[in-house]
Amino acid sequence: MSWLARFVVVREWVADCGSYQPPAVIEETVIHAVEGACPVASPSQVAKLMQSDGYYVGFSLRPSIVQELITFAETTPCYANRDPALPFYVGNRAKMEQTLGMPVLLAGYLDAHEDCEAYQKIRHDPYLLAVASQYLNHPAVYLRGEVAWGFPAPNTLADKIKTARVYHCDINDFKTVKFFFYLTEVGAEDGPHVYMKGTHRNRRFGHQRIGQGCAAIADETLVEIYGRDRVQVVTGEAGLGFVGDPYCLHKGTVPLNNSRLLLQLEFGIVPYRIWYY
Ligand SMILES: [Fe+2]
Repeated sequence: MSWLARFVVVREWVADCGSYQPPAVIEETVIHAVEGACPVASPSQVAKLMQSDGYYVGFSLRPSIVQELITFAETTPCYANRDPALPFYVGNRAKMEQTLGMPVLLAGYLDAHEDCEAYQKIRHDPYLLAVASQYLNHPAVYLRGEVAWGFPAPNTLADKIKTARVYHCDINDFKTVKFFFYLTEVGAEDGPHVYMKGTHRNRRFGHQRIGQGCAAIADETLVEIYGRDRVQVVTGEAGLGFVGDPYCLHKGTVPLNNSRLLLQLEFGIVPYRIWYY
């Protein structure tokens, strides 16, 4: 599957084979309109922007849901570098770093977030499901999600490659969509997510052929090839949400100032075992 799914023409053909019909009405959602900003975009508007740009930025999570998730993150053990053998409470990071003798780059909650009610509301949210289904043109199937911290710490290039902090694409199904929500405020120096606009459809054939191997190409080389004007750095308040086709080139970045708490969840067309961040 993954070998064929790296080609734009195959990905688009698979989506074209679907016939998703959006629901007439969406009663309730975890997303709300922010005062003074645009109203919540319809799933078809969001899907259209994703088709042209590869992503959409502009959801806002209800503050009560953000708060529930922060409480979950503060009161549940997370795992240094996603290692099940290294649990700690986020408030005890300094102690964990002392034990390890090195800084912790990131910490995830493994699958503990699945027991968090607020996470389940997002996972089953009819609006978000309609957005995903509309873009996939098939009923969206939940694949997996994560709640994770990124901490300010020195990163080597090897660390950055391992933690998806260089431009790359993820191929977890013929076509998938991934939602992200910032649970802390993320400024330009707090490890913002970065997209390279339009690279889900406009991709050199050689870069399609190597699939996820694009991660081995230097960031600056990819920026020179596809153009600096395609780079969008996503910054915003706690609660800001965005959604993208993970085949569109993207990366996380290393927080320089403040720790970043991020929720992400991915939907595809069929359940698939492979999982890349
Ligand atoms: Fe990724």
